[in-house]
Amino acid sequence: MERIARRRDLQARADAERAAGHRIALVPTMGALHAGHLSLIETARGHADRVWVSIFVNPTQFNERSDFESYPADLEADAAACEAAGVDLVYTPAVEDLYPEHSQSWVEVDELTRSLCGAGRPGHFRGVTTVVAKLFLAAKPHVAVFGEKDFQQLAALRRMTSDLGFDIEVIGSPTVREADGLALSSRNVRLGSVAREQATVLVRSLEDAERALQAGERNRETLLEIVKARLSEAPLAEVEYAELRDPATLAEASARLVGPTLLALAVHFPADPEGRGSSVRLIDNRIIEREEEADAPVRNVSSTLLEERP
Ligand code: PAJ
Repeated sequence: MERIARRRDLQARADAERAAGHRIALVPTMGALHAGHLSLIETARGHADRVWVSIFVNPTQFNERSDFESYPADLEADAAACEAAGVDLVYTPAVEDLYPEHSQSWVEVDELTRSLCGAGRPGHFRGVTTVVAKLFLAAKPHVAVFGEKDFQQLAALRRMTSDLGFDIEVIGSPTVREADGLALSSRNVRLGSVAREQATVLVRSLEDAERALQAGERNRETLLEIVKARLSEAPLAEVEYAELRDPATLAEASARLVGPTLLALAVHFPADPEGRGSSVRLIDNRIIEREEEADAPVRNVSSTLLEERP
């Protein structure tokens, strides 16, 4: 497995691969790799001849310096995990490589990033779209793979790719979960044991909403009440948002749900009462849709909502 740290070297490598007729898939990460990241690598392999992983803890997408500084980092373990997963190349730029001194250029996706996570994390998505644009220009991939776990991030990156005319196929990959359903996240290790137990309330509330919808409940507010009732069973959980949205535009779903609908959650867990762990913000989501609608021919129309669109 090759390791490259400088943008110029990566661009030259990309040019060589392209000249040889190889398709490059890029999997951008911030390291602290877990099975969720490895599943993106698997997805990438199905779409390209070369799988490249970038590992870069991007300072511009953190709202708090302390979160950036305490972000788990173990480059050697991550490189070993990539090698074991059959990754062809790992790109590990230094901050100065992607953000040269006096950098002042940004890529911003407007409306899609205003609500949900964007509302509580000003500047976060601007940092994400800016760094991913830089990674695209550095790695020149044909394909890039991102997790559906970060649904709004995926939506913003699809929009950016399309708006700026990057000739790159953006692929979403399904959320990987722990045995008890908790979505894998690099931040899970910071949960204290009591918070960790209660954290499954996110996935349980997504399941509750799905079940209620399948049983015939279509009222947006009633479904949200069901979700909030389940979340309130976790005494430590502080809900930042629980929303039903149109998966393509992220606009609020209609009062009576029609077609596939995004149910998105963000919940904070403080340190355990005994002081173990630290404050952690978790997100999760699910696209819910009545089975009978999903089976109908209209499915073809609705499922394209999740695909890249001009
Ligand atoms: P990071 O949190 O390291 O995640 C890297 C990729 O892994 C993202 O596309 C994310 O959606 C995906 N991912 C995380 N947890 C997952 C899970 N449980 N199942 C499936 N995929 C999962 O997201 C970022 O980094 C950054 O914002 C980045 C896009 C790299 C830009 O800095």
